[in-house]
Amino acid sequence: MSSSAPIGVFDSGLGGLTVVREMISQLPNESIIYFGDTARVPYGPKSPDTVLRYSREITSFLKGEGVKALVVACNTATAHALPALREEFDFPIIGVIEPGARAAVAVTKTKRVGVIGTAGTIKSRAYETEIRKLLPDAQVTAQACALFAPLVEEGWLDSEVTRAIARNYLAPMVSAEVDTLVLGCTHYPLMKTVIGNVVGRDVRLIDSAHETARQVAEMLRANGLENATPNDARYRFVSSDAPDTFLALGQTFLGSPIDRVETLTLG
Ligand code: DGL
Repeated sequence: MSSSAPIGVFDSGLGGLTVVREMISQLPNESIIYFGDTARVPYGPKSPDTVLRYSREITSFLKGEGVKALVVACNTATAHALPALREEFDFPIIGVIEPGARAAVAVTKTKRVGVIGTAGTIKSRAYETEIRKLLPDAQVTAQACALFAPLVEEGWLDSEVTRAIARNYLAPMVSAEVDTLVLGCTHYPLMKTVIGNVVGRDVRLIDSAHETARQVAEMLRANGLENATPNDARYRFVSSDAPDTFLALGQTFLGSPIDRVETLTLG
């Protein structure tokens, strides 16, 4: 595999661009091809089998594009599909859950850790499993926040309604007195202000994007896959539907403008 090949990144929609943003900042020489499954978002309420099927289709497409490694930037897809994808494909694959768990364990002092995510992610208990592997006596409080992702997509990052919903969902975190809260969904980093105000300034909010990009860097080094050529990075964005929405909203997640989005129907 050539080290100048792109890294594949996929998510159910636009949220995974928060991971791409970190990758661009930490790995400026790496080319990236991003697939957002905007035709089939949200993955959160879907069954594990369906999410696995979608994840396989996307990974096969990215393999065909010649990626040297893959980042599953969707928490729900990581929860339901990561082990199967690692068995079925022959390039290194990183998800977002283990990096998020690692970052949480590194900062908690009281070992009371909260996790919020989609219904699928929370039901899978994937975060608890990873956190307890690293910190067996951690007390994990988990809560599905199904309405957060649609609120972010509507751009309602800090409205009165958003604050009321956040107070409701996050009440168990306040009662459990967590000192660390994992934002276990691609969309939640954009709601950091509201979430932080509800749980209190002392609670550390963990955004797995930074740690994921760090682990991608480590994985590339370990596999001799780093691209050492500067100014060689190319970025491609592919969506399964609504390229206009991708163009309009994508930059909120990416933090920089997107010039062009390709459209591809899968399944
Ligand atoms: N990307 C999903 C995740 O991180 C959130 C949106 C969805 O439900 O598809 O879990």
